[in-house]
Amino acid sequence: MLECLPQVPEDSILGLAAACRADPNPRKVDLTVGIYMNEEGLCPVFDAIRLAQDALVQEERTKAYMPPAGDPGFNSGMQQLVLGLGSPALLDGRVSSIQTPGGCGALRVGAEIINAAAPGARVWVSDPTWPVHIPLLGSVGLQFATYRYYDPASHRVNFDALVEDLKGARHGDVVLLHGCCHNPCGADLSLEQWAQIADMADHQGFLPFIDIAYQGLGDGLDADAAGLRLLVERLPEVLIAASCSKNMGLYRERTGATLFVSANPASAAALRTQAQVAARRIYSMPPAHGALLAARVLQDEALNANWRNELEAMCWRINGLRTSLVSKLEQCTGRDFGFIEREKGMFSFLGLSAAQALALREQYSVYMLDSSRINVAGINGANIDYLAESVGKVLQAG
Ligand code: LMR
Repeated sequence: MLECLPQVPEDSILGLAAACRADPNPRKVDLTVGIYMNEEGLCPVFDAIRLAQDALVQEERTKAYMPPAGDPGFNSGMQQLVLGLGSPALLDGRVSSIQTPGGCGALRVGAEIINAAAPGARVWVSDPTWPVHIPLLGSVGLQFATYRYYDPASHRVNFDALVEDLKGARHGDVVLLHGCCHNPCGADLSLEQWAQIADMADHQGFLPFIDIAYQGLGDGLDADAAGLRLLVERLPEVLIAASCSKNMGLYRERTGATLFVSANPASAAALRTQAQVAARRIYSMPPAHGALLAARVLQDEALNANWRNELEAMCWRINGLRTSLVSKLEQCTGRDFGFIEREKGMFSFLGLSAAQALALREQYSVYMLDSSRINVAGINGANIDYLAESVGKVLQAG
């Protein structure tokens, strides 16, 4: 029976990472998957996470199941991290959440809830968006429309086009927004633009669903959540998918949360029960380890300060890499790459064609996505010159 299933192409991100791993060229440069790499080219364990883990290993007495909604300390810590301590919605009891297997699990649980409330609802996604958004949300049965987001010519958000397209979003529709550090383009909305989207959601009645997977890697933990918090202040209902993969380095521990901001506490409580039932249907209960570490880091004052400092240092390093890359690329190509410095988080498009991205891979072992999305956090002192020279040569070849 199963023989009828054909082989399918590799994942557009993970497949390239695997190809890079298999490449024997010692000069290879991996700018594919969005993970933070340090100067040594390693994805490090945060100091605060290591300390939390040492303590957890000493104290842990059971591996019994987690409850379907996950760890209560993790859930309340994540609500405060994402929404801010003084959030009126939090203080009013209008927020509930569920711990999920990573940000993907958070998106999936969110999709299940949307589909339970409005089967086959239409989700507006930005063009471009993370390539997994559509299969992930679509597998639940949701439908899609796109709104224009990024203008490749100016390397900026095309906000006029976004507004024009989202005029079509109605009550019963969902608009998926990237909370910060847009994946794949790195071009973020200004606070004024978030405010305009809040007005539109208010007048047109669509539900914002915010994917915030990179909080703390753009302008800092609070600044990166400012747009999201503005929507939460202004609207009765907002859905949020949050992740600890990047900002706590818990990638393989699959640690995330779906947050429900509701019109009233009864609805927030009802949504948590709905999410628990959805989780039971998909994976029963979330993994414990990452969330227990994150909960300690969120709750313990000393660990929290340690974590915030390390995250801030990562963020500065990424921004420094952006500045260095602009100058190296400009030296090697004579072209203006200043937009890379304006963009936020791990990703930017270099503005190359798919053929040029392929030439970089085949001729120089420089791996980026076909869209020319690079993971800036994969650059270091040892590969930046080679990267810029390779791009220069490929551009020169036409
Ligand atoms: C990425 O976009 O590279 C990351 O979000 C990792 C992934 O799962 O695709």
